[in-house]
Amino acid sequence: MLTLGLVAVGGYLLGSIPFGVLLTRAAGAGDVRRIGSGNIGATNVLRTGRKDLAFATLILDAGKGAAALLIARALFDNEAAAAVAGGAAFLGHLFPVWLGFKGGKGVATFFGLLLAAAWPLGLIAGATWLATVAITRISSTGALAAALLTPVYGAWLLPALGVEVATPVVVLSVFTGLLIYIRHHENIGRLLKGAEPRIGAKKA
Ligand code: G3P
Repeated sequence: MLTLGLVAVGGYLLGSIPFGVLLTRAAGAGDVRRIGSGNIGATNVLRTGRKDLAFATLILDAGKGAAALLIARALFDNEAAAAVAGGAAFLGHLFPVWLGFKGGKGVATFFGLLLAAAWPLGLIAGATWLATVAITRISSTGALAAALLTPVYGAWLLPALGVEVATPVVVLSVFTGLLIYIRHHENIGRLLKGAEPRIGAKKA
């Protein structure tokens, strides 16, 4: 129990590093929380006009989720402990103590977690994001489609194709997917009103 607590705290601390805020500040691109949607993720960093910073935010936010999960897996050789670390990193991104618990929406971290937890699931989730965004040009639609479908892929589609996904990973995908929906409530409102900006637009 103590071990799981330590895993959760370590995962949370790793996930709580707000790369979008740190990178934009360090590069003199302003405070990402004051532009566009106010989110600290890669989509909103892109609205600063700095593609390089957006890409770096994407990779680092994904990487911290993957790192938390892989470190726990290496230390404990246990999928449940790995999933706890990954889930805690995800919560760290959403509720970072350093930003008064006002963090991001978790999409990049979600993909990093999935790729580390079960790479075929991560790949198919990422492909879902890409295909959706290629059609709509709206980042949040990709996140919502991937969050909805990933548990279905993990629980049914991949096993039907002969690729087993461990139960803690499926549980992790449900947990993170639900939180992604909750964190996108403003995006969902804008989508319903037809007011959600397309990628490339500066303002949300
Ligand atoms: O990754 C977050 C994305 O789904 C929405 O971002 O800034 O448009 O709210 P944003």
